[in-house]
Amino acid sequence: MRALEVGHVPELIICDEAALPTLEGIGDHLSTATVVTADEATRKAATGLGVALPIVALFPKPPLVDHSELIARNDRIIILSQVDNPTNVGAIVRSAAAFGFTGLVLDGESSDPFARRALRVAMGTTFQLDIARTGDAEELFATLRSAGFDSYAMTPASDAVDLSGVKAGRRVALVLGSERDGLSDDWMRLAGHRVRIPMAAGVDSLNVAAAAAVACYGLTRRNG
Ligand SMILES: C[S@@+](CC[C@H](N)C(=O)[O-])C[C@H]1O[C@@H](n2cnc3c(N)ncnc32)[C@H](O)[C@@H]1O
Repeated sequence: MRALEVGHVPELIICDEAALPTLEGIGDHLSTATVVTADEATRKAATGLGVALPIVALFPKPPLVDHSELIARNDRIIILSQVDNPTNVGAIVRSAAAFGFTGLVLDGESSDPFARRALRVAMGTTFQLDIARTGDAEELFATLRSAGFDSYAMTPASDAVDLSGVKAGRRVALVLGSERDGLSDDWMRLAGHRVRIPMAAGVDSLNVAAAAAVACYGLTRRNG
């Protein structure tokens, strides 16, 4: 439904015969899709989920956008470096959508947000975001700076600034790193601000998706 709501057009719809009237209610933009009815086992096999959904739709994968265009038209952006687990990428997308971050920029080593697992975890919110990929971090941060963005490199390091003290501006880029090594020194330098979410003593770090949710919420509240 989320993909439909933001104007994506399905190629194929597989549905339970009893759900056909629901499709008629959805409207004109389904007119180009091939519609087939299928039994429970087929609908289950189509998604790989444990339950047979009454309606399953196949959409063309949306194209990535150019990162400069993404920066021009979004005020809140999440940037991922080496986040290579699709479950984490999906959970980050879901938090981004929930807290009003509308752009996602991936480096060359982060997972595809349209991978099946990532899409499922994101509950389809992936279709709401502008998504770009670039391998040139220097150029990416230079473009963000000249567009008036404050970039916050999230790190559990104890000498980083506590998130609760951050007064974010109108244009915000939140930068998150890999589950293994975190953000490299280069990425921290390029982002400029280093920000931490305080944790209990003896805890090394949060999962990257949990950190993204807390940081998105923290920066959203402060921006009113
Ligand atoms: C599992 S952590 C990486 C741990 C790595 N040892 C480090 O020092 O960054 C994955 C990512 O989540 C974010 N993160 C995790 N815990 C955080 C915290 N307490 N404060 C801010 N960011 C955090 C950072 O962006 C980090 O790169």
